[in-house]
Amino acid sequence: MGISGLPGTTYVAGHHSAVFELYPKIMDTVTGILELAKATMERHPVTISIAVIFGLQHILRRVRKTRRSRILLRTRERVLVIGASSGIGRAIAHEYAAKGSRVCVVGRREQQLQQVADECASMVPVYAAGSAPDEASRILPIKADFCNVDDMVALREQLEKEWGGLDTLVISAGVSALRPLLEVAGVERRDGAFYPLHAGSEGVRCAVSAGTAAMQGNYVGPLICAVTFIPLLSSTSPAPSILLISSLAAVVPAPTRSLYASTKGASLLLYQSLAIEHPSIAFTYVLPSTVEGDFRASAVDGGHVREADPSKHGLRRDAVAKRCLEAVDRREKAVFIPTFTGRVGHLGYWLFPSIIERIAARKYNYTAQ
Ligand SMILES: NC(=O)c1ccc[n+]([C@@H]2O[C@H](COP(=O)([O-])OP(=O)(O)OC[C@H]3O[C@@H](n4cnc5c(N)ncnc54)[C@H](OP(=O)(O)O)[C@@H]3O)[C@@H](O)[C@H]2O)c1
Repeated sequence: MGISGLPGTTYVAGHHSAVFELYPKIMDTVTGILELAKATMERHPVTISIAVIFGLQHILRRVRKTRRSRILLRTRERVLVIGASSGIGRAIAHEYAAKGSRVCVVGRREQQLQQVADECASMVPVYAAGSAPDEASRILPIKADFCNVDDMVALREQLEKEWGGLDTLVISAGVSALRPLLEVAGVERRDGAFYPLHAGSEGVRCAVSAGTAAMQGNYVGPLICAVTFIPLLSSTSPAPSILLISSLAAVVPAPTRSLYASTKGASLLLYQSLAIEHPSIAFTYVLPSTVEGDFRASAVDGGHVREADPSKHGLRRDAVAKRCLEAVDRREKAVFIPTFTGRVGHLGYWLFPSIIERIAARKYNYTAQ
């Protein structure tokens, strides 16, 4: 019989008694879980603390900020991708085009660039096509070198003319370097001894020249882009955003990558500082580990690939590009791909540097002679 005698109250009362019967079991389970957590915490305090911090950060990231695409509709978004003729930049250009944004693809190889522009044009969704007043310039291929000031200023002028401004700047252009620095200078080390004993002037100049090329492609280019486009972004977009494709190597050192890592680190810190100088712009830095593709062909020191074949073992470009768009939309700051490996490597280097150094040496098949 129900509490008040009304139809359905029997069920309610039955339901309550079932809950009361279950209550001790629920409490037992909760107590068991808490005890297990306590025991695990006692045994692995560092691991659990790191997991809890990452978990909380992940949850906060998800709930904290309004998505940028709610303020700036994708179909209104004007995106400039520097380094879009191949690789990650090309995949990012595809993603934006498929969401109906206006996309300007930039690189030095004209033919590849035109091909990417054609691919992008074929991906524009039906609902977006015809929605922009400047439809003819929805997808813009522009041949330019991001290390060349005149090219970048001309690019800005063209964007002002075609689109009247810019919302999103993506910097994916960069160059690799693959050799131990002393090897670049013509000095080899065998059994702890150097051959020849010292680097000659010519050798030192070789190392300087490779370092300067790495600096140009990984630091000066991003610097020129920042100076050229930050005022345009700030003054013409309701939600300006900059995405820098950095690298895990920018925060976790690796053998044979001294020139690459140091120059990627320089641009990362440059942009991190700019983010404080320009708080109205949302800066996102993506730090992927190895990605599939031909990036290593751009090596400024002509070295060979030592690690496992990136095209077999690397991250998929499309997956990296999707994560980049999500990060920009959520206005995330530093994004490691994969998250766990990247964050553990980053933090691990400061806590247990020698372990991370050993892992890095193994990854790049490097043994100090
Ligand atoms: N691949 C990886 O394993 C990996 C891992 C972590 C981070 N990253 C970073 O991801 C970014 C993209 O790499 P990716 O794998 O996509 O390599 P990619 O296929 O070689 O793409 C590099 C792009 O940059 C452009 N570029 C290079 N120098 C340029 C210049 N001076 N001016 C204009 N464009 C220039 C290239 O175009 P043009 O040659 O036509 O100019 C190309 O479109 C790089 O910044 C790299 O550091 C790569």
